[in-house]
Amino acid sequence: MPKPSAFELLAHPHTGDPKQMEARARDFASEMRTRRTVRHFASTPVSRGVIEACIDAAGAAPSGANRQPWHFVAVSDPATKRRIREAAEREEEAFYNGRAPREWLEALAPIGTDASKPFLEDAPWLIAVFAESWGVDMDGGRVRNYYVTESVGISVGFLIAALHRAGLGTLTHTPSPMRFLNEVLGRPENERPFLLLVAGIPADDARVPVLGKKAVPEYATFIDADRLPRGVDRRPRPAEPSSPEGVIKP
Ligand SMILES: Cc1cc2nc3c(=O)[nH]c(=O)nc-3n(C[C@H](O)[C@H](O)[C@H](O)COP(=O)(O)O)c2cc1C
Repeated sequence: MPKPSAFELLAHPHTGDPKQMEARARDFASEMRTRRTVRHFASTPVSRGVIEACIDAAGAAPSGANRQPWHFVAVSDPATKRRIREAAEREEEAFYNGRAPREWLEALAPIGTDASKPFLEDAPWLIAVFAESWGVDMDGGRVRNYYVTESVGISVGFLIAALHRAGLGTLTHTPSPMRFLNEVLGRPENERPFLLLVAGIPADDARVPVLGKKAVPEYATFIDADRLPRGVDRRPRPAEPSSPEGVIKP
């Protein structure tokens, strides 16, 4: 991987107008709030160009030390999809009928999933995402990667957002274990299967479980200049003699 030898001026496409920024952010949030995991797909073909463009967006993600430790295998070939389905269903049978702890099965019950995975053949595209545990240099030596899981997770977030933007439904699928993907897709041992993203047009009668989503105040805390969190007293305090400036900084 070449090291940057120079810096360039940032090509930043947005204005700093706060109203416009908030409007854009709210539009994006509304669009992302319509994303749901789809488990019933139409067999309608989706062109390779759409998938390539979405993978292009995924590759724009930040990554630890810019190692970009990801590899995407996009599959529309029916025979390969069938092999993936057969192997995944074998693992899922074992999972649902013994390997999974009861607590996990209870958590999955409201979602209504089971060992049968017809979407792995029905959907036009499967995108297998691999995390590159270590890189390989010109001489075949190992090159260390950094924050691999975080980097690949962010990249998959970009990918899901791009697929949603393109009008496709997605399913994040994680058959456990999924090492079979290396064999079926011919990926090397330094690549760990991360997840399998199923993508396509949702079936006309696709249904999704009714699930609650947390509201922002339930999962975010703001400590900002305008609104102080409860319990923080930032009233000016009397100066303490030991403070050299005579003022205690808030
Ligand atoms: C890392 C990860 C793994 C998942 N694995 C599966 C899976 O193997 N099978 C499945 O049907 N859904 C899977 N899901 C989808 C979740 O069940 C789904 O995102 C969750 O129920 C919330 O629903 P929503 O995506 O419609 O908002 C997975 C999601 C994530 C993020």
